[in-house]
Amino acid sequence: MAFSIKPHIQWVGKIDWELKHFHGEELSTHRGSSYNAYLIQDEKTALIDTVWKPFAQDFVANLKKEIDLHTIDYIISLHGEVDHSGALVELLKEIPDTPIYCTANGVKSLKGQYHGDWNFQVVKTGDTLQLGKRTITFVEAPMLHWPDTMFAYLSDDHILFSSDGFGQHYASESFYNDLVDQAELYQEALKYYANILSPFHKQMQSKLKALADMNLPIEMICPAHGIIWRENPMQIVQAYEKWCHQYTENQVTIVYDSMWHGTSLMAEAVAEGLRTENQNLTIKLFQMGKADESDAITEAFRSKAILLGSPTVNRSVLPTLSCMATRLKAASLQNKIGASFGTYGWSGECVKVLNAYLEEAGIALAHEGIRANWNPDETVLQSCRDLGKIIAQKCREQ
Ligand code: FEO
Repeated sequence: MAFSIKPHIQWVGKIDWELKHFHGEELSTHRGSSYNAYLIQDEKTALIDTVWKPFAQDFVANLKKEIDLHTIDYIISLHGEVDHSGALVELLKEIPDTPIYCTANGVKSLKGQYHGDWNFQVVKTGDTLQLGKRTITFVEAPMLHWPDTMFAYLSDDHILFSSDGFGQHYASESFYNDLVDQAELYQEALKYYANILSPFHKQMQSKLKALADMNLPIEMICPAHGIIWRENPMQIVQAYEKWCHQYTENQVTIVYDSMWHGTSLMAEAVAEGLRTENQNLTIKLFQMGKADESDAITEAFRSKAILLGSPTVNRSVLPTLSCMATRLKAASLQNKIGASFGTYGWSGECVKVLNAYLEEAGIALAHEGIRANWNPDETVLQSCRDLGKIIAQKCREQ
């Protein structure tokens, strides 16, 4: 399947409606995804990226329906991760000498993964590739989100091919941002940022500044996943500007797990206190034994405050909270406050452990935390409501 973006530019990727997890099982993709590859035909022909390995044979077969493979002059690999490079082996069986334009780190990543002695052509920021009337300018974007990542800007059409940046795991047959459900699109773009790009907010800040300084007219942004931004494409750049600078919404997220419902009661009491103090707060609860970690991280990213709850188990906390602590730390969250709560029977380490998790994640403790010995009684539940009120007040001050 191919789709014309312009008479001389075709999308030749794969829409993957069936994908429900990405990076193995690490990231949930409730709305599927796409692996976007682009074919640009000027006097010279360039292919930007390929697709994930399971679709490699279909990709090459479909490409053959569009073009004689031997007329491809250049392959451009914006990023070597397997979801974009996975069809290179299959493709290069047919056209083994075709030059592959990528960064120096791109060579390392492609060689490391595929062990191919391919015709690599290393490019760096400012290097250009003449296609005929049009020119591609390369812009390195290291750590967005691999060291090898780069963007490519196509003159005349004023298109930024942005690799994973500005992407979404969002399958759609509609292709363009103005043709899809706007709430779904925003949620998936935000989830992508929070789960994949948030650890690199400093690199994102400097890259967005560098792009602005280049003063390139941008009429379309073609990411490597999801829909293409054609209507007001700078809206996603502006959203990234916000997301990479201490982003918060008027929201609190409570992330907890429970064995016999005692910590659940505490979580609900904290939520009640938050709601009582400020009805304008958005309050989200995730019981991590049942909830999706990627969704919880997305909502934590949006929040002013993050509360963690777990019973004490074997002098620590439930493993679901330990997993979330790893993710919270990796996300490099900025500008958040937090607190902890949980039940215990005898040793009672839960709050101490959870507070340490918060601090390791760079989340400022706003309260020493609340422990309930055995099941929470009304006194403890009132303390939880009071904790909610205190957090709501501090959120108002933020
Ligand atoms: Fe979509 Fe980092 O690969």
